Amino acid sequence: MDRAIGIDSIGVYVPRLYVDLTGPWATARAAALSGGDVEKLVGKVTDGVGVRRMAVADAHQDCATLAAMAAKRVIDASGIDPRDIDYLAVGTETTVDQSKSIAAYVLGMLERHYGVSLPEVGAPQFQFACIGATYALEAAVSRMRAGDNTKPYSLVIASDISKYPLATAGEYTQGAGAVALLVSERPRLLALERGLCSTVTRDERDFFRPNGQTSAVVDGKYSIDVYLDCMEAAFAAYAKRVEAKLGLGGADLYDAIDYFCFHVPFPRMAEYASARVFGQLWLGDPQARARLAAEEVPLSGAPRKDFERALTRSRLFREAFAAKVAPSLTIAREVGNVYSGSLYLALASLLEETRGQSLAGRRILLGSYGSGASAKVLSGIVGEKYTAALEHLRVHDELRPEAEGGVRVPLSLSDYERLHALSDRERGAPLLPPRGEFALERLGTSSSAERTDVGYRYYGWIGG
Ligand code: CAA
Repeated sequence: MDRAIGIDSIGVYVPRLYVDLTGPWATARAAALSGGDVEKLVGKVTDGVGVRRMAVADAHQDCATLAAMAAKRVIDASGIDPRDIDYLAVGTETTVDQSKSIAAYVLGMLERHYGVSLPEVGAPQFQFACIGATYALEAAVSRMRAGDNTKPYSLVIASDISKYPLATAGEYTQGAGAVALLVSERPRLLALERGLCSTVTRDERDFFRPNGQTSAVVDGKYSIDVYLDCMEAAFAAYAKRVEAKLGLGGADLYDAIDYFCFHVPFPRMAEYASARVFGQLWLGDPQARARLAAEEVPLSGAPRKDFERALTRSRLFREAFAAKVAPSLTIAREVGNVYSGSLYLALASLLEETRGQSLAGRRILLGSYGSGASAKVLSGIVGEKYTAALEHLRVHDELRPEAEGGVRVPLSLSDYERLHALSDRERGAPLLPPRGEFALERLGTSSSAERTDVGYRYYGWIGG
């Protein structure tokens, strides 16, 4: 008999510092990005791309500290004993070491913080751009399905700090944050559907970060096309599996999926992905075709871009998008691209935005994408007692500036640019001294016959 396995609970951590993309940043960048027109740049960033603020990591933070923070949040909120975890996998594309798994650093932070020993925990790092954490989730679920686990919980963490060169079109899609997923049998939140996960991979150059570089190299417009083509192919493979296993196809499949969460490099991308996926489903559905034809959406003969552009303006699409996708995008507008965690931040956004409605028994589709390139589509059914696993989740509240009851602190342009320039060679002092959080305390500098730790990272919990 199939055992329900999936996500029991979610922990989210977003650094407190942020840049408001509608303020001095826009004034400073308008010359380079919009011919000096500040309003045009603000319009493009907030409406065209869909972001308002981007989270920025402080000098004592890196993707290992963000991961440990998210892990602590999910462990504390679920009230579990960390010794009940036997697998801790981190998906990241902005790791801190060329060799050591970042998960081992996280494991060490948790051991010291909770005063426990976790010697028999598997701690791999999964890297494949923004899809790494989904590969990690798949591995965690599969080993549990196979009965290879010795403890009831696995921890899957997505953690990244996204960085592009200043004054480029990538800059306003940066972000930083981590999401930790507690995986278990009989999960409260989302039972992942067995045998439906589909994967596609293509050898692509849309986005990469050569060794030694802190910023990504990206062919922006091309990366959008590759994302859409991979997502379409993965969704088509998912649809085939759903048809074979559950007998649902076409309009029935669209109706059977209550919410679509996509990888969100920027919120408009989820709209492009929805147009691609909904468009394919609706083209095969006579009723939807009739509605679209009545709205003068060109159903045949037009280039695909024109069809999708017209589709996104149609009432059918706007209503579907508002109901099934938009609730998953509100956190991304405030945080930016957190790479491997973006899809799971979308899930957290959906769960918070729909508080007050009952999602129990609903199907949520997860569309994951990583440049280079791979896409996975999987789905899960929301558990009957999922609200108990949500009580601690307050991401939207926290994302308000301190002055409005949240925890965030705005950055001046010069402080932001200073943090952007930091590297392991030049760490600098934190802007907000760490309090009640994990921090990178120092990098090793000893080199002797007895002990060598040059470049090793020492992390600790800073109380307060
Ligand atoms: N008001 C309102 N909208 C405006 C506007 C204004 N004043 N000016 C422009 N726009 C609209 C444009 O019409 C466009 O919308 P449509 O697509 O509906 O036409 C939108 O704003 C974006 O404008 P551009 O097409 O000119 O794009 P851009 O130069 O801002 O670049 C980008 C956008 C390519 C995504 C760039 O930000 C980038 O390179 N980002 C990094 C790469 C990335 O995120 N790729 C996504 C796929 S890869 C992936 O998903 C992996 C990952 O995480 C990186």
